[in-house]
Amino acid sequence: MDHETWSAVDDFVSRTLAPHDEALTAAVRASEEAGLPAIQVSPPQGKLLHLLARAIGAKSILEFGTLGGYSTIWLARALPAGGRLVTLEAEPGNAAVARANIARAGLNDLVDLRVGAALDLLPGLEAEGAGLFDLTFIDADKVHTPEYFAWALEWTRPGGIIVADNVVRGGTLAEADSDDPTVLAQRRLHEQIAADPRVTATTIQTVGVKGHDGFTIALVEP
Ligand code: SAH
Ligand code: DHB
Ligand code: MG
Repeated sequence: MDHETWSAVDDFVSRTLAPHDEALTAAVRASEEAGLPAIQVSPPQGKLLHLLARAIGAKSILEFGTLGGYSTIWLARALPAGGRLVTLEAEPGNAAVARANIARAGLNDLVDLRVGAALDLLPGLEAEGAGLFDLTFIDADKVHTPEYFAWALEWTRPGGIIVADNVVRGGTLAEADSDDPTVLAQRRLHEQIAADPRVTATTIQTVGVKGHDGFTIALVEP
């Protein structure tokens, strides 16, 4: 099994179960044309996020790392009218592309995009009383995933779900002697979750068009 096979399977699943409509196709194209890196979740992964949000009846979602708004669109489409998705993005250029993509998808009323480093934006959100959220998706800079997770735990309601992307990274999660800060952060995330009785979680490895990686999926104990 190799990347070519994983991609072919992703293509098949994408065509059958997670097809793009015009807005998702346009979002990918506009992101590419603007020179954004093609590191958005794959279509099957976007659909998984959508399904998780639907499964818990999410009305409010918090996202770390917007990029061009691709995962934002999948998640926001799970929300009912009157729902809300707050998404945090450090790069103004990415945020501008995302704004256009979200508008084209007709999701302006649901999506609240904030520009800045997530750790700087969080105190303001807290001051506004923005929480609690039903689902939090962590997908910004990977060294801060444990810090974002700690915030997410305070801000995600009991019975809610926290998902973190890119925790496996080609298998580096298993490297006990790694000194890579990104790897150390993902290992620390696991230890932090294991030691916290407020949450129960697992990590599922994924292969596909994005290679070998994985999601941590955590339930905030009701
Ligand atoms: N969730 C997106 C992909 C996000 S890629 C999708 O699947 O469609 C990671 C994003 O996090 C990039 O756009 C990057 O600019 C942003 N980012 C990096 N550091 C950040 C920080 N400190 N705060 C907020 N966003 C950050
Ligand atoms: C990469 C992939 C991601 O899903 C992400 O959020 C950031 C970076 C990457 O492959 O570099
Ligand atoms: Mg990611």
